[in-house]
Amino acid sequence: MGRSTLFTTLVLCVLAVHCSADGVFWHVTDFHYDFTYLDGAENGTICDSQTAGQPTPNDPGEWGDYICDAPWRLINDTVYAMKAIQPNPDFIIWTGDDTPHIYNDKMNTDVVLTIIGNLTDLLRSVFPNTQVYPVFGNHDYHPKHQMPPAPNTVYNATWNMWNVPSWLPSDVMNTFVNGAYYTVLISPGLRLVGLNTVYYYTNDKVTAPTDDNTDPAGQFAWLEGVLQQAQTDNEKVFLIGHVPPGFFERSKGKSWFYPEYNRRYLQIVARYADVIKGQFFAHQHLDSFRLFYDDQGRAVNSMLLAPAVTPWMTTLGGVGANNPGIRLVSYDKTTGDLTDVNQYYSNLALANMQGSPLWGHEYSLKQAFNLPDASPASLQNLLDSFSNSSSDNFEKYYLYNSVSHDRSTCEGDCKVAQLCAIKEVDYDKYQECIDAPSSGANVARVSMFIPFVVAAFALAA
Ligand SMILES: *[C@@H]1O[C@H](CO)[C@@H](O)[C@H](O)[C@H]1NC(C)=O
Ligand SMILES: *[C@@H]1O[C@H](CO)[C@@H](O)[C@H](O)[C@H]1NC(C)=O
Ligand SMILES: *[C@@H]1O[C@H](CO)[C@@H](O)[C@H](O)[C@H]1NC(C)=O
Ligand SMILES: *[C@@H]1O[C@H](CO)[C@@H](O)[C@H](O)[C@H]1NC(C)=O
Ligand SMILES: *[C@@H]1O[C@H](CO)[C@@H](O)[C@H](O)[C@H]1NC(C)=O
Ligand SMILES: [Zn+2]
Ligand SMILES: [Zn+2]
Repeated sequence: MGRSTLFTTLVLCVLAVHCSADGVFWHVTDFHYDFTYLDGAENGTICDSQTAGQPTPNDPGEWGDYICDAPWRLINDTVYAMKAIQPNPDFIIWTGDDTPHIYNDKMNTDVVLTIIGNLTDLLRSVFPNTQVYPVFGNHDYHPKHQMPPAPNTVYNATWNMWNVPSWLPSDVMNTFVNGAYYTVLISPGLRLVGLNTVYYYTNDKVTAPTDDNTDPAGQFAWLEGVLQQAQTDNEKVFLIGHVPPGFFERSKGKSWFYPEYNRRYLQIVARYADVIKGQFFAHQHLDSFRLFYDDQGRAVNSMLLAPAVTPWMTTLGGVGANNPGIRLVSYDKTTGDLTDVNQYYSNLALANMQGSPLWGHEYSLKQAFNLPDASPASLQNLLDSFSNSSSDNFEKYYLYNSVSHDRSTCEGDCKVAQLCAIKEVDYDKYQECIDAPSSGANVARVSMFIPFVVAAFALAA
């Protein structure tokens, strides 16, 4: 920083105008580009990403369809919308799943690489000078999900696309081509770690844990080393990844990680809770968050799950489709503290009717829920308010969960699944939460102690 810039910054800070510590970055994810969109329209199918058993789209639109993955027109428009809304973010995180949900026999490694290349080119041309940090999703490999914990053509070819100015620096080549993970210091005192959590996904059969294989590509040991060093150096860390630990809030009992890997991930977050300032993940295509606790039951960390660009309706029962979404995260550049999340979206049904997507602001976490910031403590207060019958916070959260697509209400089992997924990333504790007779009404951890307090008094008396 030059002297005059520093001086200006200090003056602005003293005047309590905008301190330059206010940072902002885009999180965009799950494009799932379906290059066949509308190809077969005359025969009743409009996209290869329409899965057996799904209803037939009745009015496939120019900008996409809730039954299908994203057409190029929507993808292109999404990235231009990011540019129109915030052209100068500090950086962009892009957390994977680039290819469509189509059967393996219609895919091959060249198609995967072509699509990764198309999206890389688009982001580079629209944001030529912006720093971009990408990671892989489970659809960025052929056969899908089967990512090997070893060097391969996809890592090699993608490295050549991403090792360009403003993207991945040459000094992360070793970890990238061997395991597709890396770390970069993004500003003084703030470090980003790009993880390949596809290895922990139960659909990745080549990384299933065994007695001899407990750490695919050595990523856990490496991560612990990075966090330990960050702690020593007084740095704060953002973790980014695709497949999240814990449970899917819209599908009771559905988890993603192998149990052993879920445990290990949780242990690492607990141990370095003061170093990790944010976890930004995706894969579920929906908007949600997770809390992580210390031994006293205090929320000490959180994970923000960003919704997808693709509107694709999953075949998982009861989950449904979503509107395309993009998110801007606000943070303090010096402390790494998260200050707000602003979610933008396009109502796809309306876009097709109007002939243009019209991106709009969906909500600000701070404003919608009246929170001071996006810290773990604030998210804990938000979760507590979901059980307050005089608050409409849960109804708002549930609408935003599908990016304002599903306007139904969520009560009973539906609500229990939502609350327990947010609260318990640990598999045993999640099950206890689901089984608890009061889980729908009382999610605050402290409320679980009330019966014990009452019992203790009863005994004392
Ligand atoms: C529609 O089906 C007919 C008959 O199977 C086939 O010849 C034609 O190529 C199909 N059209 C498209 C666009 O897939
Ligand atoms: C992408 O979007 C931009 C901005 O709206 C537009 O100028 C351009 O023609 C679009 N390109 C494609 C291929 O749709
Ligand atoms: C994707 O890349 C391939 C190979 O470079 C190119 O032929 C194709 O036109 C690209 N598609 C889009 C939508 O840019
Ligand atoms: C990756 O690229 C390096 C350097 O070009 C080459 O030596 C290696 O054999 C490649 N590995 C694979 C699996 O393609
Ligand atoms: C429940 O929500 C209402 C309305 O927002 C609020 O006034 C009240 O303080 C809340 N109760 C608790 C226990 O937080
Ligand atoms: Zn996805
Ligand atoms: Zn995924």
